[in-house]
Amino acid sequence: MLIVANWKAYVASEEKARKLFTLAKRLAKQPKIKIALAPPAPYLGLFASFKKSKIWLAAQDVSEATGGAETGEVPAQFLSGLGVSYVIIGHSERRARGETLEAVAVKMQRASAQGLKPILCIGEKERDHNAAYLALLRQQITSALEPLTQKERMSVTIAYEPVWAIGKSAADAITPPDLHEMVLYIRKVLADLVPGRANARIPILYGGSAEAGNIRLLAAGSGIDGFLVGHASADPEMFSELVRALA
Ligand code: 13P
Repeated sequence: MLIVANWKAYVASEEKARKLFTLAKRLAKQPKIKIALAPPAPYLGLFASFKKSKIWLAAQDVSEATGGAETGEVPAQFLSGLGVSYVIIGHSERRARGETLEAVAVKMQRASAQGLKPILCIGEKERDHNAAYLALLRQQITSALEPLTQKERMSVTIAYEPVWAIGKSAADAITPPDLHEMVLYIRKVLADLVPGRANARIPILYGGSAEAGNIRLLAAGSGIDGFLVGHASADPEMFSELVRALA
């Protein structure tokens, strides 16, 4: 199980960041568990010497820019230079700030060109009776993966994060049967983009109010390969309970 801890902007001090990192190192020793930490960008450098541990480092975003006169941008090559392995792309909180499908597609290419593994976030704001949200999810996946080579597509992780389930509590998350259905649907879309059996190796994560209280049920039988965890990953107690529930 891959657990990606998206600290968002919850972790407001270096001291807390270090504590969470030490905790994650301990938790990652459990078999079957792989942890990637996605701290806010200024902390990425803190963990640059992380290589000796079993923790992977993820960025929460990457720039469309490649360098030069681009004030405030963080290009992909800077991230790979710090030892970052994964980058979250197209999170709904960035899409809510105006990130377009086109921008997401460019970021996917920038990350891939630098050997970073994109974690592509997809998710509907709400569900409609006609299931139009399925077409939206297909569009989010297709527009992001189409510009990539077949080899690059195999380095992508999909994070299904229904926006209606983000930032609440365990009771508001998706139900395990619904999650299973979504995984099947996402696999169907991926099959059109990655021919043959290879698409089965693309990991699918779930995100949206994953907590210790629901994570085991969500994992069992849904076909997902891990979780993209928000608020519960920035709280030491909640995070260790969550990881232990999966181990
Ligand atoms: P929560 O776990 O806080 O619902 O956030 C999910 C998320 O957006 C992870 O990227």
